[in-house]
Amino acid sequence: MLSCDTLIRNASVLDGSGASPEVLDIAMRDGRICDIGPSLQYSAVSLVEAEGLALAPGFIDVHTHDDTSVIRTPAMLPKLSQGVTTVIVGNCGISASPVRLKGDPPDPMNLLGEAADFRYPTFSAYVTALRDAQPAVNVGALVGHTALRNNHMDRLDRTATDAEIAAMRAQLSEALDGGALGLSSGLAYASAHAASTDEVAALAQPLASAGAIYVTHMRSEAAAILDAMNEAFAIGRASHVPVILSHLKCAGIANWGRSGEVLHALEAARAAQPAGCDCYPYAAGSSTLDLQQVDDRVQIAITWSTPHPEVAGQSLACIAEAWNVTQIDAARRLQPAGAIYHSISETDMRRILAHPATMIGSDGLPNDPRPHPRLWGTFPRVLGRYSRDEKLIALPDAVRKMTGMPAQRFGLAERGMIHKGYFADLVLFDPANIIDTATFADPIRPAEGIMSVWVNGVLSYTAAGATGNRAGRFLPRARTRWIQ
Ligand code: ZN
Ligand code: CU
Repeated sequence: MLSCDTLIRNASVLDGSGASPEVLDIAMRDGRICDIGPSLQYSAVSLVEAEGLALAPGFIDVHTHDDTSVIRTPAMLPKLSQGVTTVIVGNCGISASPVRLKGDPPDPMNLLGEAADFRYPTFSAYVTALRDAQPAVNVGALVGHTALRNNHMDRLDRTATDAEIAAMRAQLSEALDGGALGLSSGLAYASAHAASTDEVAALAQPLASAGAIYVTHMRSEAAAILDAMNEAFAIGRASHVPVILSHLKCAGIANWGRSGEVLHALEAARAAQPAGCDCYPYAAGSSTLDLQQVDDRVQIAITWSTPHPEVAGQSLACIAEAWNVTQIDAARRLQPAGAIYHSISETDMRRILAHPATMIGSDGLPNDPRPHPRLWGTFPRVLGRYSRDEKLIALPDAVRKMTGMPAQRFGLAERGMIHKGYFADLVLFDPANIIDTATFADPIRPAEGIMSVWVNGVLSYTAAGATGNRAGRFLPRARTRWIQ
């Protein structure tokens, strides 16, 4: 009889393509899926009876800020416990590498850690540190535009000169040669807002020949969102690269109800060029505390504050009342700080989440002492709440949004699908019980219903918790095989 390391029997297999589930056996050997079929005959070191359970490719969290966490906290429990086997770091224009700081990290690079956490002057230094740390999940990495600006510019409130763009581009090219997946930007933040469209387009120029992509936290997610989308698509056309709009949303009460026109604009672009987006399944955003988003009608929770750590977890309204000042004045005194903004309409979020162009990305903030619950809950929430309970997305489509689609778009070779010969990144879950348990009031809680997680064929998590095995790898870019 043939032998394998692990044999999973009678799982309801969702292969990541969006196809309907099929009850099959899966055999793993040497980190890969070595066979798939009904009633496989193998002798196995471990045998898993999976009747009634769903087996999917390990989830790919396309939008993370886990850059330094994968090295500092390699157990990666917030992600592993959701069935995530790959994280993509370097989003929103901020990345841990290549970075050479002159002082403290500028906003929002401070989301990734303190000055001492930025220890990777080159992309290859980051990859080496990653290999040494042996995280429990695989890691793909984007290079942040803001990080490059901060390396090469004396101030960030202006657009870059030609010489600075050339220096940034050389550093981006070096990272692409080292396996970076593409370039990200965070044009809404003050540290990149002054960058012209031409600056970004000139920087994006090496992406096309590398088969890489452009990912953007757009210049606006509020009133000027359509202009910001047009800018992103123009950069994609000028540079001949696919564009991913990060955490697509209509932010701020004045913009509620605009998801229809936003998705219409995305669809119009998709008729002419490769473009898509990611989304997290919550009606609240989180980042550093931005004075422009302070609005007395929006509930804002402070998650951290350097001068006032004692107020973490309180609402800005309560803090302002206790201090007897306006909310905007309180927000000024709290800087630098982090916040959760309940400023998204659930209806808009659902429409974007369900759209066929949308992938799932948590945007979780792992360094936050009181993080937005998306850090621990995103993937089971999509599967349990929005697919099973509310029937917003069919289960095979929901799984595809977090597996096959991101692997193809980001160029993660031989991952994201259950195929013979592919890497054995797999998650076994109970479709009847999977659910997020992290809440805004109690955000650090593992999800329910995740039964087993294998990373590169290694059992890394079970319903009893992490196994202690850490088998993640750095995933260098293969060329994007864009699928609309
Ligand atoms: Zn962002
Ligand atoms: Cu982000």
